[in-house]
Amino acid sequence: MSSGSDLAYLEADVLKEIAEAVDLAALDAVRVSAIGKKGRISELMAQLGKLPPDERKTFGATVNALKTKVSDAIETRKATLEAAALSERLASEREDVTLPVRLGAEMQGRIHPVSQVLDECIEIFADLGFEVAEGPDIETDDLNFTKLNIPAEHPARQEHDTFYFNPKADGSRLLLRTHTSPVQIRTMQTKTPPIRIVAPGRVYRCDSDQTHTPMFHQIEGLVIDEKTHMGHLKWVLEEFAKAFFEVDTVTMRFRASHFPFTEPSMEVDIDASAIGKPGQWLEILGCGMVHPNVLANCGLDPERYQGFAFGMGLDRITMLKYGLPDLRAFFSADLRWLRHYGFSLLDQPTLGGGLSS
Ligand code: DAH
Repeated sequence: MSSGSDLAYLEADVLKEIAEAVDLAALDAVRVSAIGKKGRISELMAQLGKLPPDERKTFGATVNALKTKVSDAIETRKATLEAAALSERLASEREDVTLPVRLGAEMQGRIHPVSQVLDECIEIFADLGFEVAEGPDIETDDLNFTKLNIPAEHPARQEHDTFYFNPKADGSRLLLRTHTSPVQIRTMQTKTPPIRIVAPGRVYRCDSDQTHTPMFHQIEGLVIDEKTHMGHLKWVLEEFAKAFFEVDTVTMRFRASHFPFTEPSMEVDIDASAIGKPGQWLEILGCGMVHPNVLANCGLDPERYQGFAFGMGLDRITMLKYGLPDLRAFFSADLRWLRHYGFSLLDQPTLGGGLSS
């Protein structure tokens, strides 16, 4: 039977083992050998039954007290070892967040200048309260022309050098949209005003030289409400031009023009000082007040609603802003060109951070 001095010896021995445990695994081994099911202290409890009843109580209490003392000591040592393990990890896994980003494979890719400019435009128009709308590249004659107040015999149909598909049995023909303006129609047919959308996308015309490619990009704008007027149109375009060319002031010239879907219609030039070339006017877009016929074609009452629209060549404003001379290079899939003129993935245009950095 264990005497008091045996217990004192056991206690000292176990506490020493605990103090000397070098890591969490060693400490757990000490725990198992002392107070685990078959541990040295647990086994003392098994002797209880053999003791005379009067000794049982005090011996039981003593062993229990020893067990508590040992498990407290284990917890304390455990906390110390855990803290040491954590500081060792923190020291060895240190990261210097001020180091430049390591260029992985994905960082070698480049964003095409047109994609970058599209993101810049969306950022600007979203900030002005516009939503992005989309339409298909393959359109009907009706949406690309007729509903836009361009009837079958209208000369604008010839001007657009349209790519047509073979006629269907009923004589109707699908086509590759020649402009993003059909998205205006799709929007007015499905939404009730107030409408504020921009519709970017690919458009197609049978044309090719240094400044024309058979496929190019436009962004269309449309605002319809009850009291929208030309002052709003001019303000929106001016805000856009300032934000896009990243200048405080832009001088703009609104020239009278003609589009079948707007009345009045204008072409807009900017004073090229905005891009560091004073003394020149550069045309950037066409615009106007939506023609009452177009509103009526979409089921909107022209007596109640009015608004403005504009259409801008994305490739053209990309060439102007970033000084790219030849449009054909945009679509020639030349990796050297893309590496030179493209943008990094991390170059996300934001108004707060500056559109182009
Ligand atoms: N759709 C015209 C084009 O491709 C551009 C345009 C002009 C769009 C005036 C408009 C507008 O919405 O109002 O040449």
